[in-house]
Amino acid sequence: PLPYSTTKELSDSGVAAAAFPFNYIACKPPAAAADDDENEAADEAQIPTIDFSLLSSRNPDNRAQIVRELGRACEEWGFFTVLNHGVPVELQKAMMDACVGFFHLTAEEKEDYMGRHVLDPIRFGMSFNTKVEDVQYWRDFLKVFQHPVFHYPTKPTIFREVSEGYSRHIRQLGKDLLNAIWESLGLEENVMQEALSLESCFQMLAANFYPPCPKPELALGLPAHSDHGLVTILMQNGTDGLQVMHNGKWFGVKPLPNSFLVNLGDHMEIVTNGRYKSVLHRAKVNNKSTRISVVSAIGPSLDAVVVPAPMLVERQKRPAAFRGIKYRDFMEHQQSNKLMGKSVLDLLRL
Ligand code: SIN
Ligand code: FE2
Repeated sequence: PLPYSTTKELSDSGVAAAAFPFNYIACKPPAAAADDDENEAADEAQIPTIDFSLLSSRNPDNRAQIVRELGRACEEWGFFTVLNHGVPVELQKAMMDACVGFFHLTAEEKEDYMGRHVLDPIRFGMSFNTKVEDVQYWRDFLKVFQHPVFHYPTKPTIFREVSEGYSRHIRQLGKDLLNAIWESLGLEENVMQEALSLESCFQMLAANFYPPCPKPELALGLPAHSDHGLVTILMQNGTDGLQVMHNGKWFGVKPLPNSFLVNLGDHMEIVTNGRYKSVLHRAKVNNKSTRISVVSAIGPSLDAVVVPAPMLVERQKRPAAFRGIKYRDFMEHQQSNKLMGKSVLDLLRL
């Protein structure tokens, strides 16, 4: 046997609630959590939806209207649902199936990609970063760098073709969203393109596998964190579990069919000098069904040093709120330490 167990194997083994391993306890028992902010919101607020098809509308008023709505969603939530995004539903489904196929490989097959450095382009693992954590999260993951260089795991064989097409569609969607976001701030597309070296933007696919957990109220799939890039584009199988922080409360997210969820990352907060903030989110688990999320992160070039856009700083009449650091170093730092809120972004605040 291997000297470790994947989360999937642990779940498959039928580990009982009574024998739940201590190192997976990430939450206080519900009674103790009831009166602090771990409490879930009474979920009434509606996460904003963006009808993406209106962005390419020939009617300029339609585009202006949707750009305004997008700006408001970025400002108030940092998080929104994209409808009519144009990514073929069959391709979404094929990508999900390829990820399912990967997680169902044997532990030995997946091991080829295990224990690697956080900047290695294909990496399989459990929790978030088991080297530095005292608490394990109830999750297996696969992370694959897809741009500027396209990588793929060789098994399942379908992964290559499907993820190639999927990554291209998602990258285009991401760039179109970014352009609309710049427009919502009165920033020029080509200026931003240059400042962030978006020609060689970084794109990564992260597939998350959260199997049924016998103690869902004590474990977590992922703790509260923000993402490192500019935007993150997420789809999931039929099982919910994502929560986002809004006005100091956690909101459970129930995605609409065929939609993508988009959230803003730390580099959006940096480049907009705090006008659009990265959003805290976390993944809960359940004891009934496996949840799979497939997340595409899009960021600047790994070689870019991103600072607040000078035009915004000038208009805001306040100094730059962040210092710059190379995106590669930012990401390496986040990925090789405990995942904790906005801890890396906080280091850059001036
Ligand atoms: C993530 O934050 O990367 C994953 C969140 C999710 O599983 O929905
Ligand atoms: Fe995330």
